[in-house]
Amino acid sequence: MQNIALVTGITGQDGSYLAEFLLSKNYAVHGIIRRHSTPCTERIEHLIGAENFFLHYGDLTDSSNLANLVRKIQPTEVYNLAAQSHVGISFEVPEYTAEVTGVGTLKLLEAIRQNKPDAKFYQASTSELFGGLPETAPQSELTPFYPKSPYGAAKLYAYWITKNYRESYNLFAANGILFNHESPRRGEDFVTRKITKAVAKIFSGKQEKLSLGNLNAKRDWGFAGDYVEGMWKILQQDKADDFVLATGETHTVREFVEVAFAEVGIKISWRGVGVEEKGYNAETGKLLVDVNEKFFRPAEVDLLLGNPAKAEKILGWQRKTNFRDLVKMMIESDLRSEKNS
Ligand code: NAP
Ligand code: GDD
Repeated sequence: MQNIALVTGITGQDGSYLAEFLLSKNYAVHGIIRRHSTPCTERIEHLIGAENFFLHYGDLTDSSNLANLVRKIQPTEVYNLAAQSHVGISFEVPEYTAEVTGVGTLKLLEAIRQNKPDAKFYQASTSELFGGLPETAPQSELTPFYPKSPYGAAKLYAYWITKNYRESYNLFAANGILFNHESPRRGEDFVTRKITKAVAKIFSGKQEKLSLGNLNAKRDWGFAGDYVEGMWKILQQDKADDFVLATGETHTVREFVEVAFAEVGIKISWRGVGVEEKGYNAETGKLLVDVNEKFFRPAEVDLLLGNPAKAEKILGWQRKTNFRDLVKMMIESDLRSEKNS
């Protein structure tokens, strides 16, 4: 019997890597896409038309659509990756974020409970759940939650409703609590991609400088391609459970900037503090990085550092790509795009 996966958020960074991974394992992959006035399928363009790859219009806010799709597709595994996933923007659209990222998860769980209760369900939970308790790092499955944004609060609801459906209705419903994972396909308004794209443009002479927000924030950054394998492993267990996927390393945004510029042979020298901090080309003295308050958030998550010991032990999962290789991969890809543009 062929495995059938239903993936929400298939047009996103993770959705595209997960679709490739599942197709390589001979799954039939069904993805839900939203209608856009301009195309949104750039990350999965190469999969469209492939055998075993199917797209359906839908939306996490539309429960009848979700029920119809689950009834029609009869998935063996459902991966819920769809979300308004930008933490900073969730402060601008808090209600919408709650509807999609929080209640949308409930709608999908209900669709499964009523139409395919033996399907295995993966919820894209997040290290943003740990948010405001930096003293608890490294954070594991046992660390208390303290979300610091409308996004984090919506994901908290999604985490608990997933656990609740597991305990109340005996669904195979599992949370992957994933720390930040990046790639050349990362959205351009997340800090890593914003940096690598800007470095490539500055190096190509098409941009003067890069403006950022909080340079002191620390994140546990891994490669998205490694993490989608972890998602799949979470659903291959006999019993549903919750797992942290992380690298166990943390770096500041400032360090990410330094390593990214170093990839094109530029050393950054920093001067000033807070909003006055600036990064200069150490050789030429040219201003390359500054801080703009407009990128600060009303509340910040200062430190994320994951402890992936449980996933390593039970799933046999480990990140393969280290921090420097991740930055290098992203810079090389953005340099290629600049060259071809
Ligand atoms: P992403 O690139 O922002 O992709 C989000 C996806 O959700 C897109 O396909 C988007 O579709 C879809 N979506 C948004 N609103 C929707 C709605 N109302 N109905 C249906 N689909 C909708 O996010 P990602 O980085 O791949 O992350 C995947 C999931 O993991 C998200 O739930 C995110 O919150 C979570 N997560 C990510 C990380 C990370 O570091 N990347 C870490 C922990 C957890 P459109 O293309 O139509 O906008
Ligand atoms: N986006 C952005 N843009 N972030 C900036 C900037 C900037 O110009 N300057 C500094 N930062 C800081 C943010 O304040 C934050 O502390 C850190 O860089 C990372 O920001 P993002 O890349 O936007 O990611 P995130 O950590 O807020 O959220 C991502 O990871 C979560 C898992 O921890 C998203 O992928 C979430 O969906 C995911 O749940």
